[in-house]
Amino acid sequence: MSQPQRVEHLSTDKGSVPVYATGVVEQPWDSYTATDHSVWSTLFRRQREVLLGRACAEFLASQDEMGMGEEMIPKFADLNDQLRAKTGWEVIGVEGLLPELTFFEHLANRRFPVTWWIRRPEQLDYLSEPDLFHDLFGHVPLLMNPVFADYMQAYGRGGVKAHGIGSEALAELTRLYWYTVEFGLINTDEGLRIYGAGIVSSSGESRYCLESPAPNRIGFDLLRVMRTRYRIDTFQKTYFVIDNFDQLFEATGPDFRPYYEQLGTQETIPAGNVLATDRVYQRGTGEGWSLDGDV
Ligand code: PHE
Ligand code: CO
Repeated sequence: MSQPQRVEHLSTDKGSVPVYATGVVEQPWDSYTATDHSVWSTLFRRQREVLLGRACAEFLASQDEMGMGEEMIPKFADLNDQLRAKTGWEVIGVEGLLPELTFFEHLANRRFPVTWWIRRPEQLDYLSEPDLFHDLFGHVPLLMNPVFADYMQAYGRGGVKAHGIGSEALAELTRLYWYTVEFGLINTDEGLRIYGAGIVSSSGESRYCLESPAPNRIGFDLLRVMRTRYRIDTFQKTYFVIDNFDQLFEATGPDFRPYYEQLGTQETIPAGNVLATDRVYQRGTGEGWSLDGDV
């Protein structure tokens, strides 16, 4: 079998341009170098320490339960034994970013695409695209949770549908993914906790999202979230807080077609705005925010 490619963004005079790959590949586990494994170990240890008391209990317990450990890059096949048994999900290897429809179709079939390659040692703190650490450490543990697992599949089906409706619908659905799957917070008896994969795979944002006075923390409201623009280049200006995963699953249960129609008549909301109707956990000071560049 040929070695899978490592598909990364292109650096051009207009900045970084994403490149898409479509294929599903076998994880080339034997080809990981000692450096690759040590990048995993370093990041794993560092994040677990930051996340104790910050990530939600379901996330931490699921990592343990599925046997994701610090020693070496996990084998997808081993994790899949646990995942399939628990929720029927599986991880598949990919070379880089997938086209939207391909991504949605995988989710709709309970397959979570994980980039097979891991970042280089000089990229420990930041890289501009998903790698194995973000995808596997960040996204896969909660697929062990039955309710979250169902939410992800429903999201994939909704994505296929939105793709057929148009680019506005897709943008609105993508905001939902961003503010839940990637940057979601959850309210617990012990206080706010992290469940979003974009946060748990970042040591800086894991602290910032809970402890900084700068960002807003606002109660989850589906249509509000679907109108809210976001940042791809800095920490978020606003985090949305769910009460539990059932709330998320139930709020997203109805057919979104009427929602897309309604949203088509409304303005989007800048990433940092607070509305009179928001359920505010904390109103951010806005300290350090850049003024341009919400997408
Ligand atoms: N119920 C949504 C629809 O009809 C699909 C969806 C489910 C979207 C879960 C997001 C999350 O489009
Ligand atoms: Co992600």
